[in-house]
Amino acid sequence: MIFKKGELFCGPGGLTLGAKLAQFEKDGVVYKIEHEWANDYDESTCETFRHNICPDKPETVICEDVRKLDITKLSGIDCFSFGFPCNDYSIIGESKGLDGKYGPLYSYGIKVLKHHHPKWFIAENVGGLESANEGQAFVKILQEMEDAGYNITPHLYKFQEYGIPQNRHRIIIVGIHKDFGWTFKVPKAPFKDPSLWKTTRQALEEPPILNNSFNHEFTKHKKKVIEMLENIPPGENAWYEGTPEHLKLNVKGAKLSNIYKRLNPDVPAYTVTGSGGGGTHMYHYAEPRALTNRERARLQTFPDWFEFVGGKECVRKQIGMAVPPEGSKVIIEAILKSFAGINYKTESSKWGEELSEMLSKGKTKKVRKGSLLNQRRNKQKSNEILNEKQTKLPI
Ligand SMILES: C[S@@+](CC[C@H](N)C(=O)[O-])C[C@H]1O[C@@H](n2cnc3c(N)ncnc32)[C@H](O)[C@@H]1O
Repeated sequence: MIFKKGELFCGPGGLTLGAKLAQFEKDGVVYKIEHEWANDYDESTCETFRHNICPDKPETVICEDVRKLDITKLSGIDCFSFGFPCNDYSIIGESKGLDGKYGPLYSYGIKVLKHHHPKWFIAENVGGLESANEGQAFVKILQEMEDAGYNITPHLYKFQEYGIPQNRHRIIIVGIHKDFGWTFKVPKAPFKDPSLWKTTRQALEEPPILNNSFNHEFTKHKKKVIEMLENIPPGENAWYEGTPEHLKLNVKGAKLSNIYKRLNPDVPAYTVTGSGGGGTHMYHYAEPRALTNRERARLQTFPDWFEFVGGKECVRKQIGMAVPPEGSKVIIEAILKSFAGINYKTESSKWGEELSEMLSKGKTKKVRKGSLLNQRRNKQKSNEILNEKQTKLPI
């Protein structure tokens, strides 16, 4: 049973690589996903996708703003994925939700569902989606997915519990067309016990990364940054109390915990992100330097043969925004098993019991804490520190 897949906001192809890796045979029938078409508006990102996912059919990756894409001209598909942009749903930054520039883009995914009626879909976003717009954005999106004809299963996946060497929590919604009469069940996380989590050291050293690996360029740091990093122990950040006075940062505003934070080699990494100025590049535990893109890609479970196209910062962005392929593989394998009638271990979805109540009330229970004024202050503070132009934190 082959499922032809279309994708909006395809990014470099993290989710799709996982989909490609998820395949098996039952009673002589192969269950697998095949790429049909994909769309993103960033040229280098599209090139990365073409180069690694569909080098023989580069024309199937359409590089265009989704707002201009003619969805009706896209070929027929059996399944669909869309990791709609999270910029307006993240709790860091301005968090405009549905009122932002990126927030409403999910609606193009709904258009595809309504026009192409795929058998199933998978959508992804940050955990902050739950509380955006006073808890209303998430429910509006879920409601539109239901109304498009799908039984939906939203869940907050903690990827470190699925064997990913990184603390990464993401909302993933799986929808199965109502014609099939069943609802997707969340695959049970195999590594609930933190002592079983894959560590940063394992990800970066087993096997060692070869010097000539793709996207493995080192950053040229300022002398002061190297000196400061040398004084920060693994697992600590720029505000480590033992930092000598002359190396302390002169920064106003929020002291975000990941600024110049050196990784702890014995636990999963903190979340790989795609943007941010000096101090936000993730720092090696054994050497006083930022990670290379290949190292970040390892933490995101991209294989070493996966070559990212574009400049260093653009590649950093592509890696940080992707779904870890090994994570997407687990979920998509569970979808394929459901279609094949194969049992797998499941766990209850985060919103399982309250889903119908949420849909009837039109909002989640989770609303961002604090008064509007406090929220504004927090936004301002996190912007202060995240925007390199304002903070001028050195590289
Ligand atoms: C979160 S990333 C998707 C990552 C992807 N799911 C993966 O696993 O690799 C979102 C993508 O949406 C793209 N994007 C943002 N706004 C867009 C627009 N208006 N039209 C098309 N693509 C857009 C970005 O370039 C980015 O690659």
